[in-house]
Amino acid sequence: MRRSIRRFAPAELDRNTIEQLLEAARLAPSASNLQTWRFRVITAPGEKKQLRTFAFNQRFVEEASAVIVCCADLLSFKDRLKTTMQLITVGKVRPNLEMLLRMARGSSDQELGEERQILNAAINVAIAVEHIVLRATELGLGTCWVRAFDAAAVAEYLSLPQYAIPLALLPVGYPAEKPPPRPRRDVNDILI
Ligand SMILES: Cc1cc2nc3c(=O)[nH]c(=O)nc-3n(C[C@H](O)[C@H](O)[C@H](O)COP(=O)(O)O)c2cc1C
Repeated sequence: MRRSIRRFAPAELDRNTIEQLLEAARLAPSASNLQTWRFRVITAPGEKKQLRTFAFNQRFVEEASAVIVCCADLLSFKDRLKTTMQLITVGKVRPNLEMLLRMARGSSDQELGEERQILNAAINVAIAVEHIVLRATELGLGTCWVRAFDAAAVAEYLSLPQYAIPLALLPVGYPAEKPPPRPRRDVNDILI
């Protein structure tokens, strides 16, 4: 059962394990199949220590075996129209009226507006990150989503390309705790 893990055993992750996590991300669904996620895997102790400071000193960020910096690639939205056309051509997407009108005008995704692009990017990245989380759980690893961090500082420190926006840090490692389930709303409370 997945839980957020905030205590990790001091063990390294082998390359194959990290590859399996990235493979799970790679296979995630995304709007127009744009795959707008980008990742940087941090394992060097000095770099993890630095990431901890950018994450309001959350200790487990440094203690995890690896921290996956999960980013949205805003540039890849430029390819959206092309990708949608390809999907329509091979019969994978049935265009709706809005899509047809937009294509008839030859408009690109620039018209979607920045807010909408960022929202799409965030949704795609979130799905890919959760794929990693669930695969990690299957492999006996623990993770904890971290959003409380200074994205600009992380981007600068890691010299990320300008178009890559860090949306989450994902510390990964072998759990050194077995937390109980955290409270959840009753199913009736989530139906509206
Ligand atoms: C988008 C997102 C951001 C989060 N950010 C943090 C964080 O910065 N630090 C932290 O300790 N936990 C963070 N969490 C973990 C949540 O606190 C946790 O998922 C929630 O309390 C439920 O516990 P569970 O994951 O064990 O079921 C985050 C979770 C999500 C989904």
